[in-house]
Amino acid sequence: MKCVIANWKMNLGIRESVALARAAMATLQGKELAPQVVICPSATALHEVRKTVVRSRVALGAQNAGPARYGAYTGDIGLSQLEDVGASYVLLGHSERRAAGETAEHVRERLQAVYEHSSLTPVICAGNAWEADLRTILAGLTVPLHRRLLIAFEPEDAIGSGQHLSPVEAAETLAAIKLRARELTHMSEASLAVLYGGSVNSSNAYQYLRELAVDGVLVGSASLRVQEFRGIVDAATDVLAAQTNVWP
Ligand code: PGA
Repeated sequence: MKCVIANWKMNLGIRESVALARAAMATLQGKELAPQVVICPSATALHEVRKTVVRSRVALGAQNAGPARYGAYTGDIGLSQLEDVGASYVLLGHSERRAAGETAEHVRERLQAVYEHSSLTPVICAGNAWEADLRTILAGLTVPLHRRLLIAFEPEDAIGSGQHLSPVEAAETLAAIKLRARELTHMSEASLAVLYGGSVNSSNAYQYLRELAVDGVLVGSASLRVQEFRGIVDAATDVLAAQTNVWP
C-alpha cells in the first residue's frame, strides 16, 4: 500500500477547505487501485470537511492532539474531540511544532495517550535527529495489538524549501527508520509504515513512491494546489499499478 498525506498546515478557511477536500476526493474517482489519501485540515475546518469526505475513500487527519481525551489543557484538542469530529489519523511532533517548543518527550506522551485513549492512527514526524528521537519516543512504548504506526521522515532543510532529499537517500533512511522502530517497539512490519516528507510535488512524487522502502509521502505546500495534489495521487496510483504487475 502507498499512502499520501496532505498537511494543509495553518491555511484555508472552512469554505476553501471543503472545496479542496472535494478536489482530493475527485483525484480518486474512477481509480480501482488507489493510495490511501489522508487530508489534515486546520482544526477549525475538521467538522465541515468531515461532512464532505464521510463515506468516501479520503480519510481525515488532525495536525496535532492534546495528551489526553479531554481536560484542563487550554488550547489543545482532546483525543475524544478528534474522534468526535471524525478524524482517524493524527500528526504528532511535526517539525513546525518542534520549532514552537514541542520536544520528543511531548511526542512520546501524546503518542502513548493516542494508543491508550483513542482509536486514532498516529503519524509521528522526525527530522535529521530521527535516531535520538525514535529512541525517546518509542523505547519501551506499549503499542496495543493491531494498532498501526506511521513515521514521517522530514529533513528540516527540505520542508517548504524546494530542496528535497534524493529519493535513494530517502529510501535508505526510511528503511533504517523502519528497522529501528521495529527493534524499539517489536511491532510487525505490516503495522508500521514510513513516509518521506519535504518538498514533495507532482514532479518528484513518483521517484519517491516507486522505492519499495517508501510507504508514502507527507505533502505540505503542494497539497494546497489541486493540480499538484492530483499529480501526486496519480503518481502513487501508477506506482501501485506497476508494482502489482511485477512477476513474482
Ligand atoms: P512541504 O511540507 O511539502 O511544503 O515541504 C511538508 C511538511 O511540512 O509536512
